[in-house]
Amino acid sequence: MNILLLGNGGREHAFAWKIAQSLLCQQLYIAPGNAGTAELGINIPIDPMDFDEVADFVLDEEIDLVIVGAEAPLVEGIYDYFQVDEDLQDIPIIGPSKAAAQLEGSKAFAKAFMKEFGIPTAAYREFTTANLEEGIAYIATQTPPIVLKADGLAAGKGVLIIEDISEAQAELQAMLNGKFGKASERVVIEQFLNGIECSVFVLTDGKSYKILPSAKDYKRIGEGDKGLNTGGMGAISPVPFLTNDLMTKIETTIIQPTINGIQQRDLDYKGFIFFGLIIVEGNPYVIEYNCRMGDPETQVVFPRWNNDLVEVLIALTKGQLNEIEMDINPQSAAAVILVSGGYPNDYEKGKVIEGIENVEDSFVFHAGTQELGDQIVTNGGRVIAITSLGKNFREAVRQSTANAAQIHFEGKYFRRDIGFDL
Ligand code: AMP
Ligand code: GLY
Repeated sequence: MNILLLGNGGREHAFAWKIAQSLLCQQLYIAPGNAGTAELGINIPIDPMDFDEVADFVLDEEIDLVIVGAEAPLVEGIYDYFQVDEDLQDIPIIGPSKAAAQLEGSKAFAKAFMKEFGIPTAAYREFTTANLEEGIAYIATQTPPIVLKADGLAAGKGVLIIEDISEAQAELQAMLNGKFGKASERVVIEQFLNGIECSVFVLTDGKSYKILPSAKDYKRIGEGDKGLNTGGMGAISPVPFLTNDLMTKIETTIIQPTINGIQQRDLDYKGFIFFGLIIVEGNPYVIEYNCRMGDPETQVVFPRWNNDLVEVLIALTKGQLNEIEMDINPQSAAAVILVSGGYPNDYEKGKVIEGIENVEDSFVFHAGTQELGDQIVTNGGRVIAITSLGKNFREAVRQSTANAAQIHFEGKYFRRDIGFDL
């Protein structure tokens, strides 16, 4: 099979690594890819948001399967673009339809969906400029912290958690006045939930589903979960506090009702669902849905997943997912992310990366890297994920952290405390 993978992050390197192991894969292309994916397939300089160019490539190179890594093309409707084109509609594409991707693309859509299907989540209200005054009055009745969420995609920056009532009221106004552009034309205000976060992933054909290993990511730049939010500074899998009892609760109160809701609403969903959860006094609540795998969660989930990914995805596209037997490695995985100095604020690119060959007994997944002549240079905020397996997450974290010191580039930073709160 010829396979096209869309994206360029650490998640996509982990996908490429799994795909390249499949006996079913003849040729893998990655658009646009990074220096890591270049070792596993052919990088092609196409922007995943340019659907016309993607489509031309798919037809020219006789692609048999398209896998979408990130949310933006899905929320923009790449699945539907393929479905309405006679030449493309028989080429399977992994990811939800535009309507189903609203589970990630619109917080208001996701909240209404959860309410309709009785899925536990924080209580909420939604506001636009038409009822701004009501929103301001509503905030005044709430006990801080106040959680304000831009409805649309805002590059991970659209959630504000504010301690002061008048500051929250001012922020509501700023958001509705375009602080996050179109994404915050509508704002969801929700109850603050105090608990511990974790993530669960499923693969679904819209009817049956398979549960993948759980993961917990570390989003803040600083050790001890201090400082600015990032795309993710590290992750572990599985989540040690997700007991069998809790997983059963998650499956019956969250996963099954979500799949049921997708069917009830007649949504076309053939892909991954990422459930961002918070556990409050032993009960799971949904913080957010994502319509794709996580980054860096994929870099700890996939190394524990022994199945042939392509075989599973083909079964999914044929509606035969229920015939797949999941094969999960019982070991723990931990990823430590090396980032550029200054990230998540401004940072420089083009720093030469050295020492990758010195990493032993860990996987190196590239994110913001690029080949330049015979060198590899930094090309983004998150540069490399180092993933290790161990008999428990602490052993895996130790191994990844030790190997993080083997790789060098100017300004390199990483957290040494992944898993510190467990
Ligand atoms: P989201 O983009 O919806 O995942 O939100 C970003 C982060 O904000 C989450 O990972 C949580 O840490 C936090 N958060 C979001 N919603 C809530 C909530 N209702 N209560 C507490 N924390 C929240
Ligand atoms: N690591 C969080 C995400 O992929 O959304």
